[in-house]
Amino acid sequence: MGMIYLDNGATSFPKPPGMAETMAYCMKTYCGNPGRSGHYMSMKTGEEVYNARKAVAGAFNIKRAERVVFTLNTTGALNAGIKGILCSGDHAVTTAMEHNSVLRPLKALERDGVTHTIVRCSKYGTVSPADIRKAIRENTRLVVCTHASNVTGTLQPIAKIGEMIKEINRERDAENRIIFMVDGAQSAGCVPIDVEAMHIDMLAVPGHKGLLGPLGTGALYVGSDIDIYPIIEGGTGTASKDRVQPLEFPEGFESGTVNAPGIIGLGYSVTWVRRIGVENIRRHEEDIIRPLQNALMNMDCVKVYGPADCGEKTAVVTFNAVDRDGRVRLGCEEVAGRLADEYGIAVRGGFHCAGLAHQTIGTWDTGAVRMSAGPFNTPKEIKKTIDAVYRICK
Ligand code: ALA
Repeated sequence: MGMIYLDNGATSFPKPPGMAETMAYCMKTYCGNPGRSGHYMSMKTGEEVYNARKAVAGAFNIKRAERVVFTLNTTGALNAGIKGILCSGDHAVTTAMEHNSVLRPLKALERDGVTHTIVRCSKYGTVSPADIRKAIRENTRLVVCTHASNVTGTLQPIAKIGEMIKEINRERDAENRIIFMVDGAQSAGCVPIDVEAMHIDMLAVPGHKGLLGPLGTGALYVGSDIDIYPIIEGGTGTASKDRVQPLEFPEGFESGTVNAPGIIGLGYSVTWVRRIGVENIRRHEEDIIRPLQNALMNMDCVKVYGPADCGEKTAVVTFNAVDRDGRVRLGCEEVAGRLADEYGIAVRGGFHCAGLAHQTIGTWDTGAVRMSAGPFNTPKEIKKTIDAVYRICK
């Protein structure tokens, strides 16, 4: 059944024309195990995986493609970065708008003697660089911050935070420098990211959201001056007689057979995104979401969360059905279910794996309905969605 798909924050749909065919062609005609053998199929697959690596690197102004490691998703990339850099005695700083993919690894690391501070955000979800500054200690080794909240779409001042950390690092020895890691789960492919200009040391991205690739793909960028330890050891296709895990990029951080058809599909879709231009996608998504945001903000029966200005967030509108006093009147799951069942509109209701973000915006008890647009949504779909929300919430 064709749906109006407004769940791009969970995974994007549809994918660019030709991506599925590219993956099918790989699987049907040449898919060997890359980096493992010298025959044509292994070599060809390795070459295409490398092309995908270059395409992902180019999307974020990453100069050395080998510093891009493929993962299963953003969660894998965040875990690899966070656990790969932090050791006993270290301290990390993060924000209250993070996804559990940041908060849970940091919580788990408490067992190993790693501490962390969670910086509070405004009720719109914005973090202040000055508050991050205040949380930084002598032993702070990592600042990890989402670029865009998966609950409200709120865009964080990443470039300013990066600049501030760069300034602090001027006063520190190389071994004590603070690493700035960005969770690009909701922004990669939707909002321009430049690791150089934004002073990003590590970047975690999904392949399957804004980059429009297949599920089961993600990537971690690690700056060339940063040493991390792999969190998974095993076969790398290199140094087979050595019991010790090689630390070379990317092999040392991609143990085991990679998802080659998925990565090759991702390479295709990233190239498509870059051809259209992230700035153009961003403009389209802002134009798409603005009428939805404005219409819902004007409904007495609806409360919208996050920034009012669509320029300050990704293409997300998060809301609840409320009574005259602003109290939530219908459960978010019920609203999401009725949008799907009665109107064929796909959204995500609930807590979005980000409890603290819901606490920050005031929906700890209720959760909220999130509608997240993508490059293929049309004004006609948005008009139908506005009507449906009104009918359900009024
Ligand atoms: N983290 C994804 C979301 O926000 C799955 O929906």
